[in-house]
Amino acid sequence: MSMASHALLLVAIILLSSPVVLATCACHDIAKLLPGRVFLPDSSEYKTSISSYFFLNSRQSPKCIVAPTIADEVAKIVKKLSVREKKQVAIRSGGHTPNPGFANTDSGITLDLRGLNKITLQGPSADVVSVGTGTLWRDIYATLDPVNRTVVGARVASVGVGGFLTGGGLSFFSPKYGFGCDNVVNMEVVLANGTIVSANATSHPDLFRALKGGQGNFGIVTRFDLITHSQSEYWGGAIQYAASADAAQLSAFESFKAASYDGSAEIEQTFVYFGALKTFSSTNNMFYMKPVANASALKMFADIQPQTTNTMRISNTSAFAEEIEMFQPKDQFATYATLSFRMGPGILPKIYKQWKDATTSLSAKVPNVTSVLTFQDIPPPPAANAPGNSFPFAPDSTPHKDDVLVLFSFYWPHKQEYELVESTIKGLTGSAQKLVGDRVKFKYLNYAAAWQDPIGSYGDEMNKMLVRVAKSYDPSGFFQKVVTGGFKLSM
Ligand SMILES: Cc1cc2nc3c(=O)[nH]c(=O)nc-3n(C[C@H](O)[C@H](O)[C@H](O)COP(=O)(O)OP(=O)(O)OC[C@H]3O[C@@H](n4cnc5c(N)ncnc54)[C@H](O)[C@@H]3O)c2cc1C
Ligand SMILES: *[C@@H]1O[C@H](CO)[C@@H](O)[C@H](O)[C@H]1NC(C)=O
Ligand SMILES: *[C@@H]1O[C@H](CO)[C@@H](O)[C@H](O)[C@H]1NC(C)=O
Ligand SMILES: *[C@@H]1O[C@H](CO)[C@@H](O)[C@H](O)[C@H]1NC(C)=O
Ligand SMILES: *[C@@H]1O[C@H](CO)[C@@H](O)[C@H](O)[C@H]1NC(C)=O
Ligand SMILES: *[C@@H]1O[C@H](CO)[C@@H](O)[C@H](O)[C@H]1NC(C)=O
Ligand SMILES: *[C@@H]1O[C@H](CO)[C@@H](O)[C@H](O)[C@H]1NC(C)=O
Repeated sequence: MSMASHALLLVAIILLSSPVVLATCACHDIAKLLPGRVFLPDSSEYKTSISSYFFLNSRQSPKCIVAPTIADEVAKIVKKLSVREKKQVAIRSGGHTPNPGFANTDSGITLDLRGLNKITLQGPSADVVSVGTGTLWRDIYATLDPVNRTVVGARVASVGVGGFLTGGGLSFFSPKYGFGCDNVVNMEVVLANGTIVSANATSHPDLFRALKGGQGNFGIVTRFDLITHSQSEYWGGAIQYAASADAAQLSAFESFKAASYDGSAEIEQTFVYFGALKTFSSTNNMFYMKPVANASALKMFADIQPQTTNTMRISNTSAFAEEIEMFQPKDQFATYATLSFRMGPGILPKIYKQWKDATTSLSAKVPNVTSVLTFQDIPPPPAANAPGNSFPFAPDSTPHKDDVLVLFSFYWPHKQEYELVESTIKGLTGSAQKLVGDRVKFKYLNYAAAWQDPIGSYGDEMNKMLVRVAKSYDPSGFFQKVVTGGFKLSM
């Protein structure tokens, strides 16, 4: 062979093994294997899938979207993908993560699991419901409300099941029943080699535990079987206050934490800056699991004035989750970051001030930014005799009483403002962490920024266990190397 043809061959090899070319080949291969399940950029299915991501961050452009509808198809796809190295694969359920590249990709293949959306009630009194990973909480609530049952799902109707439950899951009912993942009795999981297994307390219990907080490092969950709890209508809604109520709000949250714990009471206290209106205000989303207006655990918030809107009433989960949905800043860029701390006097106002200062200075450069600070409880850990999760709370610990979970979230309209907002939220999170110290290391995965390390925050021992599980169920490292997005274990 001449030098020139050697060089040409080399170029051809390099080109053909680049991730983009391999991804394109894989799209064709899967289309042959599963006709009708692969969508190219010019199709309406592709466009609908991309526009269904909640934030603009994730509306990237994969080579193709692969949309299976049953676990067997997911298994076939994974088998096909796992024999080719180097391409990039992204996995999505509801598409609500604000972290770019976590549930979509610009150069590979996106596995869109929205078609796995079957809801099946099990047992004589519907005490378990099986839901596909692509189901939306809205549809589950609509199924369960009429029979006076509920699940520990998201507080916003359009959130997906798969990311929410594998990252934890904070719900209206978490103060009583724990994280959403603690209310899963079984998961159907597609492993890296395409085998489908059941993970539950008696079958692959290590995998079961790892998937409750370790998200995408071990397999693709195709179905979750959830405990349903008896639940009739209850008191809840939102109260919005003028900024002049901020001091009273902060001191009410201190009283709430100091009072004896009432597992029926759930509150997200949020401070908001709306750049479009140039105004600060605050809102409490509050729920009490019983039909009791002004329940004593939450009455101090209901009494605060001046209020600008108040929707507190007795209603159902569908109505509450749709109400919160309406107030979510959608179709914008977004970033979240989180930390947790041991409650102590005077800490809330200091974090609030850091947030307000950072927001004020950012708003000079990003006028239409929406900036939000949220305080809420960490749920109680599972009992010693219940299956555990990956989180760093012992069965006898009381994070729900002692600690507070902070979410910073920012929303803005233009891509070019990304770096400014990101450096603001990084700086703010760093100063808040410095202020509260690192006694409580927990970073809630579903609120964590891509640059945070929520899984690392579960502690060394748990990380060793998670690495062991990943190596045993995914020896070739498919979920570490080929699936590019999501929080990865340090292997
Ligand atoms: C408007 C809004 C409201 C929210 N409300 C709440 C709330 O009330 N409580 C709360 O706790 N959180 C809430 N969140 C955060 C939410 O839990 C996370 O964004 C979560 O990732 C959403 O799940 P999803 O299925 O939409 O995830 P996606 O964005 O589809 O995926 C997120 C990550 O999970 C991985 N993943 C998805 N499905 C699977 C699967 N089946 N198997 C393995 N890995 C998978 C993906 O690869 C990706 O890395 C909210 C977010 C938004 C935007
Ligand atoms: C929930 O409550 C709303 C408002 O009262 C009502 O219109 C709706 O029918 C209820 N939904 C279900 C599923 O019960
Ligand atoms: C649900 O609970 C409400 C209030 O307790 C009751 O009136 C209604 O009959 C119940 N519905 C069903 C289907 O059990
Ligand atoms: C756990 O998995 C095993 C094996 O598939 C299955 O027989 C059993 O029913 C599962 N348990 C639950 C609670 O789903
Ligand atoms: C609850 O408290 C608010 C504020 O103090 C009050 O306006 C309202 O009437 C009370 N609601 C009920 C049903 O008692
Ligand atoms: C901010 O939003 C307002 C109202 O939507 C709009 O008129 C204005 O152009 C926006 N400004 C910037 C800098 O995007
Ligand atoms: C698939 O992987 C699992 C976990 O590593 C292993 O137990 C199983 O034997 C593998 N199956 C095949 C067909 O290779």
